[in-house]
Formats: sequence, structure tokens, C-alpha cells
Amino acid sequence: MKNIFPILLLIISFGCQKSEKPSYGIKTAIAEQNPGKKLMEMQCYVCHNPATPHENRIAPPMIAVKSHYYKKGMSKADFVNDIQNWIKNPVAENVKMPGAVKRFGMMPKQYFSESAIRQIAEYMYENELEKPVDFDKNHKNMNGNGKGNGNGKGNVNRQNNQGFLNNNPFSNQEKGLQIALQTKAVLGKNLMGKIQKEGTLAALDFCHIKAFQLTDSMSVVKNATIKRASDKPRNAKNKATAAEEIYIQLFKDDIKNNKDSEPIVVENGRNINLYYPILTNSMCLQCHGTPKTQITETVFAQIKKKYPNDKAIGYNINEIRGIWNVSFNK
Ligand code: HEC
Ligand code: HEC
Repeated sequence: MKNIFPILLLIISFGCQKSEKPSYGIKTAIAEQNPGKKLMEMQCYVCHNPATPHENRIAPPMIAVKSHYYKKGMSKADFVNDIQNWIKNPVAENVKMPGAVKRFGMMPKQYFSESAIRQIAEYMYENELEKPVDFDKNHKNMNGNGKGNGNGKGNVNRQNNQGFLNNNPFSNQEKGLQIALQTKAVLGKNLMGKIQKEGTLAALDFCHIKAFQLTDSMSVVKNATIKRASDKPRNAKNKATAAEEIYIQLFKDDIKNNKDSEPIVVENGRNINLYYPILTNSMCLQCHGTPKTQITETVFAQIKKKYPNDKAIGYNINEIRGIWNVSFNK
């Protein structure tokens, strides 16, 4: 793998830029392919994939999640609501899977659009989900909601996410958003897996080297460049440009106003840039929180050694750590 991070020089002329909100809606052309299933595979399977062997799991398979959320006779609306609640508020008092928390740690809070979650939850409610091979012996009493029409039954999907992204008929803006979400998910998964298995200190190294390779290889595949930028960078290479700082501020305002952020899409000639906020969750604080309390002394010493000019500390949860900047041609 190459280790070159594509740095994109953005010259944004504010005179001719057009900013609009992308729609999350799925094009009707693929509606019958079940958008909820696709969204689930794309946004949740990076951690919840039933095909992941037991020992490599970093989260419970989706069918196990369903078995803890679905109660006999429950309405679809209530089920969807409970999933939405968890996604918006993955905190201790809302946990229905304490065993999973014990094994994997809490699900990090991530941003997913409300409409995507609705479609995913509806799909989960209406269909039998894929079972991992060892599922029945561990979950004897789980027999679905009786309404499953067999749509999703048993066919473990081995298509990888990149294949889906390359072939999908989404609009450019949706594609940009998916690239950002996907990169975030891959990074999040690798980071979380590393921390779970080897601890924070080991993950620090991983983060330093791998973040570049992952984002780079994704860019090559998707024909787009993607970078992370921050107003308080750890690595000076990730310092936000003046234009990026403006978008960072807009996303900070959203948080202050208690508003879910929408990605910002800027068209400039043939070029499209999509900016998407990177929010902190509890997992981040062991490297980006308060030294000595949240960041251990050992980890902090290592950070200081590698990044003497580090500015990326002092964060709390649900703050803007930076943005993704996805850039591609129409
Ligand atoms: C970065 C990894 C990751 C991704 C991506 C992810 N999850 Fe999770 N999720 C976890 C982990 C780890 C747990 C188990 C610990 C827990 O329950 O908090 C979990 C648990 C859950 C639970 C049960 C929470 C409880 O304890 O009550 C639900 C519901 C859930 N995930 C839904 C989703 C949905 C829907 C998606 C996709 C939109 C998703 N997750 C994406 C890691 C992830
Ligand atoms: C194990 C330690 C560790 C954890 C946990 C961690 N980070 Fe980082 N983070 C780093 C390191 C080290 C860098 C510098 C990487 C580099 O050299 O590009 C970094 C860089 C970044 C950057 C690029 C901008 C910059 O400051 O250079 C962003 C954005 C970021 N992290 C966000 C997050 C978020 C969000 C989380 C939680 C989901 C998180 N990090 C969790 C160690 C960590």
C-alpha cells in the first residue's frame, strides 16, 4: 500500500460556489433492492457483520441486536423508535445489551441520518436477519418477529462495501457522503478493534500510520480524494485551511443550537467538495480528552513525543474534532 496522503489544494472561489443540502433519499430505481438492507450493510456491518467469525467480532451481529430490541407483538413504529433512540443516545442508561457492552465496550456515538436509521430499522423489523453460523446454539429462544418474509434470510452477504459503492446509482452528493461515512466507519472499526485487543498505546501507533493508508486506498478506489482537517490539529499536516475553518465553525454552531448537522456540499465548476463533521465520542477522549484524567500519563507522554505541537486535546464528547473533506469530479 502506498503511504502518500493526497493533499488537495482547495481554491474555493466564493463568487461562484453553490451550496446545497444533499438529500439522503434513495433513488427509486433501487428501491426494490431494499435500501434499508443496503444502508445496514454499508453503515452498520463494518462492526455488526454476521459473517465475521466469533473471535474477530468487535460488536454483536445485527440479529442479536434485533433479538434484544424486538419484543413479541411490538409495533414497527416502536421498534424503529427504540433504534433511533439508541443511535441518538448511546449512553449507559439506554443499554439493552449489557453483555455486549461488557465484551466490546460501548458503541461509540456516531452520526447517522434519521432517514437512514429509519430505513435500516424498518428492514430489521420486517425481515429475518442473517444468522452467524454459531447463532442458534447461543440464542435458543430467538425466533424473529414472526413477520419475516424470508427476504434477508440466511444469505450472508459477501459483497464488500467498496463494490457496492462503485456500482451504486446514487447522486454525486450522496456518493460523497457515503465515502466520508465509509472512511469513518473503516477508521472507527480499526481503531476500536485495536484498542479492544491491544490497548490505547498500541492504537496510537496504529492511528498515526494507518489513517493515511486507509484514506489513501479509499481515495484511489473511489476516484475521490478525502482528507481530515482540524482547527486544532495533532498532526500539522491536518491543519484546516481558511475555507475549512469556516465550515468547522458552521458545524460548531449546529451543536450549540442543538441541531443535527447536514453535510455541506460546495460545487465549483466540475469539482464537488463535501464537508462532513467529525464528532468526538467517548472512545476518542483517551487520546483527545483531558491529560492525566482521560489521557493516561503514558499515552500523553507518547503523544507529546510524536507530536510536540499537538493541539488536539481537551475535547469532551459530542464536539467537533474536525471535518472530512471529500473532493471529486462530477
Ligand atoms: C464502530 C462500530 C459500530 C458501528 C459502525 C455500529 N455499531 Fe452498533 N454497536 C457497536 C458495539 C461495540 C455495540 C455493543 C455495545 C453496546 O451495546 O453499546 C453496539 C450495539 C448496538 C446496539 C445495541 C445497543 C444496546 O446495548 O442497547 C444497537 C441497537 C446498535 N448497535 C445499532 C447500530 C446500527 C443501527 C448501526 C448502523 C447504523 C450500528 N449500530 C453501527 C458498534 C458499532
Ligand atoms: C489511540 C489514540 C487515539 C484515539 C482513541 C483517537 N485518536 Fe484521533 N488521532 C490520534 C493521533 C495519534 C492522530 C494524529 C494522526 C496523524 O499523524 O495523522 C489523530 C488525529 C486525528 C484527526 C486528524 C486531525 C489531527 O488532529 O491531526 C482527527 C480528525 C481525529 N484524530 C479524530 C478522532 C476521533 C473523532 C476519535 C474518536 C472516534 C479519535 N480521533 C480517536 C490518536 C487517537
